[in-house]
Amino acid sequence: MQEWDGVDGYIVDKLLGDDRELTEVLEANAAAGLPAIDVSPAQGKLLHLLARCMNARRVLEVGTLGGYSTIWLVRALPGDGHVVTLELDPHHAEVARANFERARVNQKIDVREGPALKSLEDLAREAQMFDLVFIDADKQNNARYVQAALEVARSGALIIVDNVVREGRVLDERPPDPATLGTRQLFDMIAAEPRLDATAIQTVGVKKWDGFLMAIVK
Ligand code: SAH
Ligand code: DHB
Ligand code: MG
Repeated sequence: MQEWDGVDGYIVDKLLGDDRELTEVLEANAAAGLPAIDVSPAQGKLLHLLARCMNARRVLEVGTLGGYSTIWLVRALPGDGHVVTLELDPHHAEVARANFERARVNQKIDVREGPALKSLEDLAREAQMFDLVFIDADKQNNARYVQAALEVARSGALIIVDNVVREGRVLDERPPDPATLGTRQLFDMIAAEPRLDATAIQTVGVKKWDGFLMAIVK
């Protein structure tokens, strides 16, 4: 809806302002042929604020794309903070790495290429621990990603999952596509998981009608 876009523009004008670094990321992504499925600017700022609320030092991201959301997150971290971000597609990872260098945040970001479920196993084996996990990759694996995140999230960590509403498809579509099925498995898994306390919030804006789920590890 045009009004949603207009209001998102107003919010960005008033509260986010011009951000040359992040604009350059979106331009580089478009030039490299990446799909424009990054979080919106207002959502990116929300991730950034949540990371600051958490006093996060170690952030895990599942689904890098060109690293737009990664840069919002890394900006929230103290000098010794870092982000590990997981990406399947080598081309996406390459574009992201170039974006991180241009934005001079590459030293704080570890891009791990390959299937995220495999990288999550590696992180658990390395006994890495995270304060905040942002899950934004292939939606059919969302329940598995949250289960794996529980192995590397400290007590009190925040887990955020993007795109859990997708214009209402979470309820509507019959028969469901794999992403919708994955979203329902995610809600079922979290409803049955005693270690998590969760909610989900619907959003509208330049990315249409969607929403995110957030959960705290008890
Ligand atoms: N978080 C990004 C957008 C991510 S788009 C932002 O807001 O800027 C989703 C990404 O997940 C794509 O780059 C896609 O290649 C990646 N992806 C899909 N399946 C994956 C998998 N199995 N493992 C890791 N990454 C995957
Ligand atoms: C898609 C993926 C996303 O992470 C998103 O925010 C929007 C769309 C997609 O795969 O279509
Ligand atoms: Mg997303």
